[in-house]
Amino acid sequence: MTVEAAGRPLVAIDRDRLAARLEHEVQAFRESHPRSLELSERSRTSLLFGVPMSWMARWAGGFPVFVEEAKGTRIVDVDGHEYVDLCLGDTGAMAGHAPEPVVQALAAQAARGSTAMLPTEDAALVGEELARRFGLPYWQFALTATDANRFALRLAREVTGRGKVLVFDWCYHGSVDEALAGMEAGIVGPRAGNVGPPIHPALTTKVVQFNDLDGLERALLAEDVACVLAEPALTNIGIVLPDDGFHDALRELTRSTGTLLAIDETHTLSAGPGGCTEAWGLDPDLVTVGKAIGGGMPAAAFGVSAELAERIMERTHADYEDTGGIGGTLAGNALSLAAVRATLEHVLTDEAFARTIPLAERFSADVVEAIEGAALPWHVTQLGCRAEYRFRPTPPRTGAEAAATIDDELDRYLHVHALNRGILLTPFHNMALMSPATTLADVEAHSEAFAQAVQDLVG
Ligand SMILES: Cc1ncc(COP(=O)(O)O)c(C=O)c1O
Repeated sequence: MTVEAAGRPLVAIDRDRLAARLEHEVQAFRESHPRSLELSERSRTSLLFGVPMSWMARWAGGFPVFVEEAKGTRIVDVDGHEYVDLCLGDTGAMAGHAPEPVVQALAAQAARGSTAMLPTEDAALVGEELARRFGLPYWQFALTATDANRFALRLAREVTGRGKVLVFDWCYHGSVDEALAGMEAGIVGPRAGNVGPPIHPALTTKVVQFNDLDGLERALLAEDVACVLAEPALTNIGIVLPDDGFHDALRELTRSTGTLLAIDETHTLSAGPGGCTEAWGLDPDLVTVGKAIGGGMPAAAFGVSAELAERIMERTHADYEDTGGIGGTLAGNALSLAAVRATLEHVLTDEAFARTIPLAERFSADVVEAIEGAALPWHVTQLGCRAEYRFRPTPPRTGAEAAATIDDELDRYLHVHALNRGILLTPFHNMALMSPATTLADVEAHSEAFAQAVQDLVG
């Protein structure tokens, strides 16, 4: 959805006012979260960066709220504040927090043993369900989407005998070395801030702008790319949707150049039960998916087409079974597969998406109304049960266009303003996700808080 200026000039942000409003909100946050502040200060003595994982330091209030309890869409923090959670563990909790079928499956499986280096019946059932949803017949499991992507790239290199990988500029596929590449003036380099890149990514990676079919063709014509690793729509630099015909052309170009196509559905599972692969009729060689499928438990999967499975099996010298590079002792463990089965069978079902996608539509419509009301040059993009607002008037076509409008101060203001009004948004985006537990009242709570944030900003 795009903001129409409606005959009025679009309003520029008054930076002094923004800075003052941000300071006011951060101060209010600090004062109203004494217990979280205390735990945060204590954590600094034993945790690097003062948090269990460094990115948790990124929450907008200067320290994260410490969680007492999370259930459905509600999080209660250690200061007793209750939040409507639209971050949902940035997709890890897209099934809602502690969904009952998953809680029960976990309790039952934990009592029967969590990991045994042996399969359980759940593995076969989950494989069948993933095949039904995504249309690829054969599946393997990992614990994170990062690992699923790493394994997909290894398999692609193994069967094609090619060394390179192609990704789209401003993609994110987890901490996969090859995908932490960027492009500056057409030159591939380490993504800004890349921590200790193992080798220069130009040696492993080609980078093309999303929706740039000419660039894609040029990059693939050399026939040295094993695999294009792509989200069907970029989701980690705001949402960047594909142009009409982009995916057909991507598939055609990959096929004609002998390049494999891996579609990462980790975030775009928001589009429906089988992600964009099912919703848009895509036909990839590999699909990777993580986060949400475990209903909060670490779990990920990668699927391969029948043809690729044959090529994988033909490579009899490849050590798929021991120390060949694809593995993980706890991958496919009984506990995470029990959680995946319960999530797919009972929580992230076809019916659930039929309710969550309209909620994201409503979320987007309300945000557009507030943006238009204030004549701000912002827009909202929705992808299934996920929606995101960004600070440019029209949707970007490439990651670079989306990145050009990053505004950290504005992001921070909107996030801490929302936090102070009982709304959690994902810390790296202005992203909201609807779970099967999300209600219209939750969406309206955000709409009201967002309208107020806009009002406070523009006066
Ligand atoms: C599209 C996509 N793929 C993979 C990942 C990696 O997931 P994880 O951090 O669970 O390994 C992410 C994480 O944000 C992601 O957005």
